[in-house]
Amino acid sequence: MITRVGVVGAGTMGNGIAQVFAQSGFDVKLCDAIPAAIDRAKATIEKSLAKFVEKGKLSAADRDAALGRLKAFTSLDNLGDVDYVVEAIAEALDAKTDVFKRLDAITKPEVILSSNTSSISITVLGAATKRPDKVLGMHFMNPVPLMTLVELIRGQATSPESMQTATDLCKTLGKTPVEAADYPGFIANRILMPMINEAIYAVMEGVGTPEAIDTVMKLGMNHPMGPLTLADFIGLDVCLAILNVLHEGLGDPKYRPCPLLRRMVAAGHLGRKSGRGFYSY
Ligand SMILES: NC(=O)c1ccc[n+]([C@@H]2O[C@H](COP(=O)([O-])OP(=O)(O)OC[C@H]3O[C@@H](n4cnc5c(N)ncnc54)[C@H](O)[C@@H]3O)[C@@H](O)[C@H]2O)c1
Repeated sequence: MITRVGVVGAGTMGNGIAQVFAQSGFDVKLCDAIPAAIDRAKATIEKSLAKFVEKGKLSAADRDAALGRLKAFTSLDNLGDVDYVVEAIAEALDAKTDVFKRLDAITKPEVILSSNTSSISITVLGAATKRPDKVLGMHFMNPVPLMTLVELIRGQATSPESMQTATDLCKTLGKTPVEAADYPGFIANRILMPMINEAIYAVMEGVGTPEAIDTVMKLGMNHPMGPLTLADFIGLDVCLAILNVLHEGLGDPKYRPCPLLRRMVAAGHLGRKSGRGFYSY
């Protein structure tokens, strides 16, 4: 039975994932290597829960209970007693492989180790552990407390039992799971990222301003948010990392990250989280 969940990485996604588990009654241990990231995560969670209370979707007592179920740590060593793990550190293969190796050594052998990766191979992460049957992708969408989809990725060695446990868990969180096979970008980013990349090429080539491109996609295609606003929201470094995985993994030049995206990331213009991207924040 899963009652205690470890979330590794307290950034954009990790804090949202920790919040939804805590709101659903799980005890949560949130780990991040950087203490400041934990402080930011706590503030973000408090703000998000306050909004739910303001809108009458959550009682003040339930908010306090959710906050009471959340504990934060700077070391993975605290995850020895958890029943399930979601990893949400930066989208970098070496860093994730290292974390999976450590989680494999620290956690109980029956524990499922899931990754919120947007594009990195679940099979490769599973192979870094001695329990590849218990490694799967649990790809939440941003912002996690509001978005209902979770893409569940079955690695080459993931067992049907592990997939069933993750499916049931998603439903307990009030989310809708959709299964995807372990190919670069899975379903969501295989389709979304080429569109965002094309929008960035359109900016680079002067086809339209970011405002013009976003307006065309919002009013013309009925997208709730334009692709450049969305890219800023996701993080331009995250978009670049995903495009690199698509490009390398699928080998097709159509996934080549736009040079303007590379340049913006190199300049530290990462979108919302850095205050500057295609728009200023
Ligand atoms: N941003 C999005 O919209 C989005 C959506 C879906 C999935 N994802 C995926 O979620 C994951 C996290 O993305 P994010 O946007 O939250 O990143 P982020 O940069 O906001 O946060 C990553 C956090 O991980 C921490 N970290 C890095 N290495 C660590 C380690 N070894 N141990 C513990 N903590 C460590 C960092 O300090 C940071 O706080 C990535 O795999 C990304 O592809 C992101």
